[in-house]
Amino acid sequence: MPNLESNTAGIVSPNPFWLASAPPANSGEQVMRAFDHGWGGAVWKTLGQPIQNVSSRFGGLHYKGTKAIGFNNIELITDRPLETNFKEIYEVKKRYPKHAVVVSLMVETEEEWKDIIKRSIDAGADGLELNFGCPHGMCERGMGSAVGQEPTVNEKITSWVAQYSTVPVLVKLTPNVGDIVPHGLAAQRGGAHGVSLINTIKSIIGVDIERMVLEPRVGQRSSNGGYCGAAVKPIGLHMVAALGRDPRFRLPISGIGGVTNWRDAVEYILLGASSVQVCTEVMLRGYRIVEDMIEGLTQYMRDQGVEGLEELVGRALPSYVDWGDLDLNYETVAKIDPAKCIGCYDCVVACQDGAHQCIFPAEAGQPRVPRVDESECVGCNLCQIVCPVPDCITMVEVDNGYAPATWNEHVRAGAKLRPKKGAH
Ligand SMILES: Cc1cc2nc3c(=O)[nH]c(=O)nc-3n(C[C@H](O)[C@H](O)[C@H](O)COP(=O)(O)O)c2cc1C
Ligand code: SF4
Ligand code: SF4
Repeated sequence: MPNLESNTAGIVSPNPFWLASAPPANSGEQVMRAFDHGWGGAVWKTLGQPIQNVSSRFGGLHYKGTKAIGFNNIELITDRPLETNFKEIYEVKKRYPKHAVVVSLMVETEEEWKDIIKRSIDAGADGLELNFGCPHGMCERGMGSAVGQEPTVNEKITSWVAQYSTVPVLVKLTPNVGDIVPHGLAAQRGGAHGVSLINTIKSIIGVDIERMVLEPRVGQRSSNGGYCGAAVKPIGLHMVAALGRDPRFRLPISGIGGVTNWRDAVEYILLGASSVQVCTEVMLRGYRIVEDMIEGLTQYMRDQGVEGLEELVGRALPSYVDWGDLDLNYETVAKIDPAKCIGCYDCVVACQDGAHQCIFPAEAGQPRVPRVDESECVGCNLCQIVCPVPDCITMVEVDNGYAPATWNEHVRAGAKLRPKKGAH
């Protein structure tokens, strides 16, 4: 039986699945219920000076019948008294000593940090997460992403926390930056034990075109919010991998953003995350999703022949190279399986209008299976992406006889012009 236990910067949990700091981890009653379903850890809803929230505060991006592929919020940090939160954290830790309880924090002055760190640790926190990521409301007060976007401030506040904390400190990074690496390095310099990412992406989820007001609506006004949910996974994966592959960055990573099932979680793990946090999917479908996640990950580990989670962490990172190191001579073409094709011609339209005009309708009187002109196919994948039938279109590798050649090799060889296929 594979061992799912995870260790992120010394924060140990029975499995890598943690609730992210958000409404599902708002109270002790919720976190205990989540642990009963199987969640290995929880990052408590961010604590700080309690605020007042607005109504309404969430928005969903619905696409062709699928609800909330993207999600947006203008909620702030906890609106419950600190004493209540600490009492409940204490209770949770007493009843679930083996689960990870990480307390997310966001305050302003060094004195406030010192005080809230002590109270969190006294309540039993296994680790602290510094919310340097919230892109609305708190940043206007000089906290959240206002800190996360400024490496010198990030480093300074991290160093205060590292100095006062006796438990591991994770810095939660904002994706609202051009390049995540300097921000991860700032946390490292400040003495963080790990990082978690991503927080939400600054966004406007939509506009009510009858009322002429942004959504989610607060009376006749609204504001930009934070984007998350399934749609943001590619951004989270990229940022985690960008840190994971940078040789200067040496901290453990807790991966967040758009995780909806065990496969998403495995993708984060393969790109360097040692734990994975989930918010939106739990808000939409409830704590029980973790049951499938545990089952799926266990089976995957069995299939891969790995016994411990750490064997998977970062395993796909060596495949992530700069574009200039890709083999320009590698070639694939699209092949259609006539036995599976339902003749919808979605691939014909896509290739004709959006790719390289090399898929054609069947000849009159022939079965309704499109024909690919392989000599013109550039192997772009578009037809495979639009085909509604699983495994009907396969991208097949072509042995064109050319040796591998990359753009960077070409430049290093001193050549100025674009290489011809096959040139080295
Ligand atoms: C309604 C809502 C409230 C959130 N509140 C917090 C918070 O208090 N602290 C924090 O660090 N992140 C907060 N987040 C961000 C999440 O923890 C997480 O980083 C983000 O939603 C991406 O994960 P997901 O795609 O699984 O939702 C919040 C997100 C949502 C949707
Ligand atoms: S892979 Fe691209 S170019 Fe080739 S047939 Fe499909 S859509 Fe056309
Ligand atoms: S999209 Fe797929 S199913 Fe539809 S015609 Fe093309 S190959 Fe056949």
